[in-house]
Amino acid sequence: MKLFALLFAVVVTAESLTVKDHWEKFKTDFDKKYQNIAEETRRFRIFQDKFQEIEEHNARYTAGLETYYKGITRFSDLTKEETQGFFKKIHDDTTNWVPKTFETPANVPDQVDWREKAAVFPASDEGNCGASYAFSVTGALEGQNYLVNNISVKLSDQQLVDCDHNNANCQGGNQSNSYNYIMQAGGLNSFDDYPFRKHPGDCRVVSKKYAAMKYTATVGATEEQLRNALAEIGPISVSIYGDWVLDYAGGIYTGSCVNLVQYLDLSALLVGYGVENGTKYWLLRGSFGRKWGEKGYFRLLKDANMCGVALRASYPVLEPVKKTR
Ligand SMILES: *[C@@H]1O[C@H](CO)[C@@H](O)[C@H](O)[C@H]1NC(C)=O
Ligand SMILES: *[C@@H]1O[C@H](CO)[C@@H](O)[C@H](O)[C@H]1NC(C)=O
Ligand SMILES: *[C@@H]1O[C@H](CO)[C@@H](O)[C@H](O)[C@H]1NC(C)=O
Repeated sequence: MKLFALLFAVVVTAESLTVKDHWEKFKTDFDKKYQNIAEETRRFRIFQDKFQEIEEHNARYTAGLETYYKGITRFSDLTKEETQGFFKKIHDDTTNWVPKTFETPANVPDQVDWREKAAVFPASDEGNCGASYAFSVTGALEGQNYLVNNISVKLSDQQLVDCDHNNANCQGGNQSNSYNYIMQAGGLNSFDDYPFRKHPGDCRVVSKKYAAMKYTATVGATEEQLRNALAEIGPISVSIYGDWVLDYAGGIYTGSCVNLVQYLDLSALLVGYGVENGTKYWLLRGSFGRKWGEKGYFRLLKDANMCGVALRASYPVLEPVKKTR
């Protein structure tokens, strides 16, 4: 259960509170129960160190020396060793992905934000269900269904979790299996017909399906190609090395990160890019609810090979809905 538990960042603001007060609040907020006093003492020590690290980091943020800040999350009583390998690694089979090349336009837009223009629905909360692959793929599908078919409907992540038996339900999965499932199934149910339940269950598909796919397209693994594709196509499904998100609370992440395909372990929906105070960023939607990060979104340093953001970019190419009249 501790794997894939809910991420829930709370920004540390009330400075008058002692560490002990924060500890009590932490235990209440995240319903923490420890087996015995020794275990609680051990966890409190870890929390103290974490708390101090967050305070020091956020003081640097306040002084303008960092571009992102951290928060207490439900993982704040875990050691570095325990949080390493927190997310399952993502291994896509890309053999039937069709590579696409995107020309750099004469006027590259300074910023892109598809949130208001492409049926990007608010961040879901995966809870204890490690299914970031599903939220990322349905997000890309929802965007294309809107941009190609003018249909704005939230689609079923749970259908991918329950029905795609090549993935591991709530124990991880990947985009390639998800796209293959969508192609075979002829699209996905709406979220309303097949809502998210935070745990795996029996597959129970209803007949009404949306967003039938022709094939999966992939984008050349550079940030320039990713930028061009995003601007032209709409929201893109990506995977990153994401262990650092466990204490991210806002801003543009510029900390250390691995940029290797075999380390990708968290999928997200890339919805934009921009620049703030001279720092370029990618804008992504997470799957940890709207109270995490920046209302469910997070930002990552752009044009710096961060976290492998460009290494597994993909989007679904849809079968356009035929007009019946
Ligand atoms: C940009 O600067 C403003 C004003 O100093 C600050 O509030 C904001 O947090 C900064 N943003 C980043 C990403 O550093
Ligand atoms: C898209 O759908 C909306 C509402 O469903 C409709 O008002 C609009 O005319 C449609 N746009 C196009 C280009 O078909
Ligand atoms: C991802 O897809 C590949 C190829 O289909 C598969 O071998 C692998 O097990 C999948 N990974 C997960 C985590 O499901």
